[in-house]
Amino acid sequence: MGAPRVALVTGGSAGIGLEIARGLFHAGYFVVLAARSRERGEAAARDIAAGAREAPSVLEVDFSSGRSIRSFADAFLSAHESLDVLVNNAGTWSTSRRETAEGIELVWATNQLGYFLTTALLRPALEKAPRARVVSVASDLARDLDLTDVSFKRRRYTGVASYAQSKQANRMWTRALSRRLEGARVTANSMHPGGVATGLFGKGGGVIGKLAGLVMSRLGRSPKEGADTTLWLATSPEVEGRTGLFYVDRRERRCRFENEAEEEKLWALCAAMTGVKAD
Ligand SMILES: NC(=O)c1ccc[n+]([C@@H]2O[C@H](COP(=O)([O-])OP(=O)(O)OC[C@H]3O[C@@H](n4cnc5c(N)ncnc54)[C@H](OP(=O)(O)O)[C@@H]3O)[C@@H](O)[C@H]2O)c1
Repeated sequence: MGAPRVALVTGGSAGIGLEIARGLFHAGYFVVLAARSRERGEAAARDIAAGAREAPSVLEVDFSSGRSIRSFADAFLSAHESLDVLVNNAGTWSTSRRETAEGIELVWATNQLGYFLTTALLRPALEKAPRARVVSVASDLARDLDLTDVSFKRRRYTGVASYAQSKQANRMWTRALSRRLEGARVTANSMHPGGVATGLFGKGGGVIGKLAGLVMSRLGRSPKEGADTTLWLATSPEVEGRTGLFYVDRRERRCRFENEAEEEKLWALCAAMTGVKAD
């Protein structure tokens, strides 16, 4: 028996990510949880392992910070030669405009630059796996991407617009990524998990955040249901070789943002904002 395949789940300490990590663990992967808080990450790992001999391992990272992502990626690469499944899932929203210590609007930094930089830095490990898959949790709530003002310096900021912009970018970036991975036996797809009852909505802050949290806790599907399509994309032979696509409830859905020139502009912008070589 060879070494188990390795899966990394970002934001694996809560919500949908926790259920994705649990599903991958039970499918026999060696799971690495990338968590903002080591304590919450370790608690999630114990919960997933439920007494099994080997629990998921935990790496601490703040996905809103390029510096933190770089040291997390170094830690991952020094512990693992290859990566079979990368699930980009860590995400946030905020009803008020906030900036990171690096001067980037928080939701853009976390939800889009976080996915971009993590994947760019781990790409060598993905390319070393016999076959690898990148699954990025995006959303149906996707619009308002303005490549000339991703940081909302000129536009009026709203929590929904900045979140929807980042999720549109997740979908467009996935297509640009899939073109770069062609021939490398690494696929890249994005998906919408449905409306899911998680802590995400309440984290937006203010009355709108509280209201959204309350509505979703009653109307949303369970995090386990929200994890289903990602787990299927990460593991099922049915989607072997399928790449550059957007899925909802295990069905391929035509993405209304398909536009190669704009996807490439987005790629170049993310590369410039993260200091990654734009190839
Ligand atoms: N819930 C829905 O209805 C829905 C619908 C469409 C798409 N999505 C997407 O699904 C993904 C997961 O969301 P969820 O609903 O499961 O929300 P959640 O319960 O709030 O989980 C989000 C995870 O991301 C982590 N995270 C957020 N910011 C981070 C940062 N700067 N550094 C490190 N980790 C960070 C959180 O860590 P902490 O515990 O430390 O906050 C948490 O583990 C997101 O990409 C979201 O946009 C959700």
